[in-house]
Amino acid sequence: MTVLDTFGRPVRDLRISVTDRCNFRCVYCMPKEVFGRDYPFLPRAELLTFEEIERLARAFAGLGVEKIRITGGEPLVRRNLETLVAMLAGIDGLDLTLTTNGALLARKAQALKDAGLRRITVSLDSLDDEVFRAMNDVDFPVARVLDGIDAALAAGLEPVKVNVVVKRGLNEDGVLPMARRFRGTAVVLRFIEYMDVGHTNGWRLDDVVPAAEIVAAIDAELPLEPVQAAYRGEVANRWRYRDGSGEIGVISSVTQPFCGDCTRARLSADGQVYTCLFAVQGHDLRALLRGGTSDEELTAALADIWRARADRYSELRSAATAELPKIEMSYIGG
Ligand SMILES: C[S@@+](CC[C@H](N)C(=O)[O-])C[C@H]1O[C@@H](n2cnc3c(N)ncnc32)[C@H](O)[C@@H]1O
Ligand code: SF4
Repeated sequence: MTVLDTFGRPVRDLRISVTDRCNFRCVYCMPKEVFGRDYPFLPRAELLTFEEIERLARAFAGLGVEKIRITGGEPLVRRNLETLVAMLAGIDGLDLTLTTNGALLARKAQALKDAGLRRITVSLDSLDDEVFRAMNDVDFPVARVLDGIDAALAAGLEPVKVNVVVKRGLNEDGVLPMARRFRGTAVVLRFIEYMDVGHTNGWRLDDVVPAAEIVAAIDAELPLEPVQAAYRGEVANRWRYRDGSGEIGVISSVTQPFCGDCTRARLSADGQVYTCLFAVQGHDLRALLRGGTSDEELTAALADIWRARADRYSELRSAATAELPKIEMSYIGG
């Protein structure tokens, strides 16, 4: 079954946040001043159980979802995550992946692979230890994330994608060293424009390094050429090195919004579904699940939510929208 929203967009991707907690305090995502000791993280009973997540994932798959990304918060801090991976890997025809900060990956990569995970994305904002420690704000060293990436490669979780959020004046000098380090390996870099998600990171347009600038900086030393998008809704603009030594992606959600092709839904750890990263209001699926809804009713409810979808926040981004209340990325799932 295919359902289309008010702009004719199907639902193809689902991001599932399995926890709103994290062992990092990245300055652009969970600044310490806000996410401190007293921050009211979700109590355990409010999190969806693995069984509830699987039920929703199957319902979404029935509506056309082909790709599921497990995220958070930091997904690897959720206990026994391999069990959920195994449950989701059992859904036919699904492309299943996970985004992690890599801190616990060296320990968990093989178990994730054995559970049925195919590939993985690791976030790493800089190879410069001092810069990285300041960005994750818990003094976590680069070397241990690199160990996690190596463990993922050794386990066969390929390709390993590495997400790099670029913030002006913070880690922009690290773009070329990253490109040099990973060119010619099984790691595909994806540079991400710093986005105005949530309202705690004090985002300013001046902090954004436009994707075009990132591509130009790399191209000047390591010549690049564009690659055609592989499918509708692909968010990364792909570029390959002209000498055949691999490719990179850039995600220009601020300077070149891609709402027109957005086929993505997001499920928060407590079972709210959001049809846009910038949505203010979610739809409470946990209440439906715990209220005894049948599978047919659940599918019908999801279809109704998707059909009513009219979000295109990034295309409308302006002085007027900047003031809207927004949901934190660590909650909604990046
Ligand atoms: C919210 S995290 C969740 C998964 C995991 N904790 C991680 O860091 O990979 C998912 C991705 O969102 C990115 N992200 C977080 N805040 C962002 C922002 N304000 N702008 C752009 N990307 C952001 C992170 O760098 C990460 O690659
Ligand atoms: S980006 Fe990921 S690792 Fe960093 S604070 Fe947000 S959820 Fe945690």
